[in-house]
This record gives sequence, C-alpha cells and structure tokens, in this order.
Amino acid sequence: MRTKVADCLKKTAPGTIVDVRGWVRTRRESKQGFAFIELNDGSSFANLQIVADKSLPDYEELIKLVQTGASLAVTGELKESPAQGQKVELHARTLKVLGQADAAKYPLQKKGHSFEFLREKAHLRPRTNTFGAMARVRNAICDAIHRYFQDRGFLYIHAPIITTSDCEGAGHMFQVTTLDLAKLGQLQGSRNSEAGKPFEIDYTKDFFGKKAGLTVSGQLEGEIFACSVGDCYTFGPTFRAENSNTTRHLAEFWMIEPEMPFYELEDNMALAEDFVRSVIKSVLARCPDDLQFFNDRIEPTLLATLENITEHDFIKLTYTEAVEILLKSGQSFEYPVGWGKDLQSEHERFLTEKHFKQPVILTDYPREIKSFYMRANDDGKTVRAMDVLVPGIGEIIGGSQREERHDVLISRMQECGLNPADYWWYLELREYGTVPHSGFGLGLERTVQMITGMQNIRDCIPFPRTPKSADF
Ligand code: 4AD
Ligand code: MG
Repeated sequence: MRTKVADCLKKTAPGTIVDVRGWVRTRRESKQGFAFIELNDGSSFANLQIVADKSLPDYEELIKLVQTGASLAVTGELKESPAQGQKVELHARTLKVLGQADAAKYPLQKKGHSFEFLREKAHLRPRTNTFGAMARVRNAICDAIHRYFQDRGFLYIHAPIITTSDCEGAGHMFQVTTLDLAKLGQLQGSRNSEAGKPFEIDYTKDFFGKKAGLTVSGQLEGEIFACSVGDCYTFGPTFRAENSNTTRHLAEFWMIEPEMPFYELEDNMALAEDFVRSVIKSVLARCPDDLQFFNDRIEPTLLATLENITEHDFIKLTYTEAVEILLKSGQSFEYPVGWGKDLQSEHERFLTEKHFKQPVILTDYPREIKSFYMRANDDGKTVRAMDVLVPGIGEIIGGSQREERHDVLISRMQECGLNPADYWWYLELREYGTVPHSGFGLGLERTVQMITGMQNIRDCIPFPRTPKSADF
C-alpha cells in the first residue's frame, strides 16, 4: 500500500515501514556514500526527505539515475529527523527509479521561474510548489462550496453548456458549429492526392439548424429549478467571448450560481456574505501550510486580509453612495467616475482597499448598465442588483433579485433589444405561479485569486483559456 507524503509527514509514527512514490525535486550527495533526496508527490506542500546509502544494491549506479524530475518508488523506515524543519525522514531499504529524467534538460530548474514561463509549460506547472498548492487550495474551495450548499439543503443542478439563450445579453457568446468529420476526412485525403489543394472547413454551420452557443451563465436554467424544487445551485464552466486581456478575465471560467425562491435582495446579500466567509474559513482550516506558503512567497498581507474578511461584516451601500465616495475621494482614476457609468476594477479596489479596507456589497445599480432580468426599483432608474467586491480583486460576485413581474419583464427585454419570443419559457415562469426570487454568481477563479493572493487569474485555473492562449 502506497503512503502519501502528506501522511508520512503528519500522520505516520516514526518506526513505521512505508512505501512512497513521487517525483524527485532535488538530490544532494555526500562524500561519505549517502544521499538526501527530496521527494514530492503533490499531496503536500512539503517534500519528504529520503536518505539513501550504500546498503542499497548497486548504490553508485542507482543514485546517478536519481535526477530532478525522475519518478521513484521507495520503501523504508520513517525515522525522526535530526535536521531542522522536518520531523521525519525516510531511510530507504529499496529504491526503484520508475521513470528517468535528464536533469540538464528538465524544464523546471531549482532557481525558480516566472509565472509567464510556467504558463508555457502547462504539463509540468503543477509540479512546482506554487501550482501544487494552487491545485490543492482550488480543490478545497470546490469542496467547501458543495458542502456549504449541501448542508443547507440546496440541490446541485447541472445547467447545460450548449444553449440558445444569452443570459447576460452582452452578445459575448462563443458559437457552436457542427463539423462534418467524415467529410473533413475525405477532404484531407483529397488534399494528399491533389497536391497543394487546401481543404476548407465550413465554419458557418450551426447546431443542427439552430444558432447555439456556449453558456455565459447557468442562471436562467437555475431559475427554472428554483421555481420548482426550491433552493438550488449550479456549478460549472462558463464561457465569455470578450477580448479581455486583464489579470481578472478568462474566456473559460467556472461559476457557482445559487438561486433561491422567496428571497428578496437583502436575503440574497446575507447568503452571499455568509457563503464567502464560510468558504474562506473552511480553506483556512484545511490548507494551513499551502496558505502560509502563499502568504510567505506571494502576498505578505494574505492571511491578515483573509482573517479580516472572516471577522468583520461586509460594508453595504448603494451604487449611488459609492459614486459619491469616489467623486469626493480626490483620486485620479484612469477611467472617469460618474453616475450611470459602470465601475471599473480600479474603483472597486479603491473602495475595498483604501476607503473601507473590507469587502463591500454594492446594490441598486443604474438599470442601463445591468442585465434585463434584474428587478426594477420604483425610482425608474435603478435595479435590485448586488455586486460583492473584495480587496485585491474587485468584483467576485454579481447577483440580483429577479424581475418576477411578467409585464415589467417584457418591457425590460424590449428595452434591452431582446426578442421576448426567444425567452418564452423564461416568461412562462412568470405566468404560472410567479414568486419573488434571487440569486448570484461567484467566479471560482477570482475566489482562488482572493484566497491565494495570486496576481493573475491565469495562474488560478489548471489550463487557462484567454484570447492569447488555449494550447492544450
Ligand atoms: O457578473 P456576472 O457576469 O453575473 C452573471 O453571470 C449572473 N448571471 C450571475 C447570477 O446572478 N447568477 O458574473 C458573475 C461572476 C463575476 O462576479 C466574476 O467573479 C465571474 O463571475 N466572472 C468572471 N471570471 C473570470 N473571467 C471572466 N471573464 C468573468 N466574468 C465574470
Ligand atoms: Mg458582473
């Protein structure tokens, strides 16, 4: 039975015989005929130190193969370590090189690499400290999210990825096309036979005669289930065809979208706040070593910021009040501030990092800058929208109370240039037993950014898809 490195370091008593497997981070040889090998298997931030000596058969030959990047299977006894910073080390009784690596050619060198360089090495990136930690923290976040909703009786609903509705109404959808692979095969064949003649792919074909795209949000489908089975949430990949090359935007990202019947905006805000704080607390409890690493190496204020978020209530104010604060701030922003203009990341970060130094929930945005489904306020100017903004990032959650009034929704759709006939099913939910309801969407990668302190969202997802990268 294989024992994971994390368990050797934290759970297994010295004196136990274990079988570990993993990849060599470093090897140091002493002149006295033994070597220290740092082995990592991804289960923990720390490596397991292996002591190998001449008692191993063919030691001299064997140790030459133990190079950075090689994979090993080692059995031996865990012993208390005399070295500082580690409780145990493994004294090898058998050592087998499973897969060799040429350390001179191995792309990951000890010196450390830039995140840009590592993005080009997506197949080896998770072998680094930072990306091993990122993968574990991302996993813990996802687990905490499911637990949060499952413990409260929410149903996990799988929204479709291929859809004909553009939830955000922003026209930023990737279109789905049908490729006739058989035809393509023939054409490839013909290219080979008719030298130099290129084949053509018909990219204008659509989804079996309909225009369909990759979903930008599972919300509208979530609303169907909220208005039948009750509290529910979606958690899946979403796609945005915006040409945004920022540190906060991806073309493919994961979103968690709870949707609740009988919730007004205030209930929605309370849930969002409790949810964010609860997820942070779970990850702080589950991944202390990884978060300490991010604090020490990536963002020195990380742990203090996370603790601050979990300990204090979020500030709540309206968009209008936020605009007044920004206008009076005396700051020179790159993008102008004015009532009716959308807030940019720099404005959101000013509010959360400089003015309040805490997360902020902004509500009641101008209707012109928000989506058609948000419930209209009586002032004729604003809608029951809410954005949750956090230090270091800005918006991590967008949500609202939904427009449940059939006639108001139709006129709002028309105002937004949507054809109500295309959303007949969404409108019917308002014809048969309509109820007040609300929901929100949390961006998973921005949550990973918040909890790890990583600067760039591309480093918060295993395989980032952006306008400039989608290699494999
Ligand atoms: O504010 P957004 O666009 O809201 C919606 O999609 C609603 N349908 C959600 C709902 O009410 N159910 O997106 C919600 C969140 C943002 O706050 C952000 O965290 C994330 O999704 N997000 C992105 N993350 C990475 N890259 C992008 N291009 C993102 N666009 C939105
Ligand atoms: Mg938004």
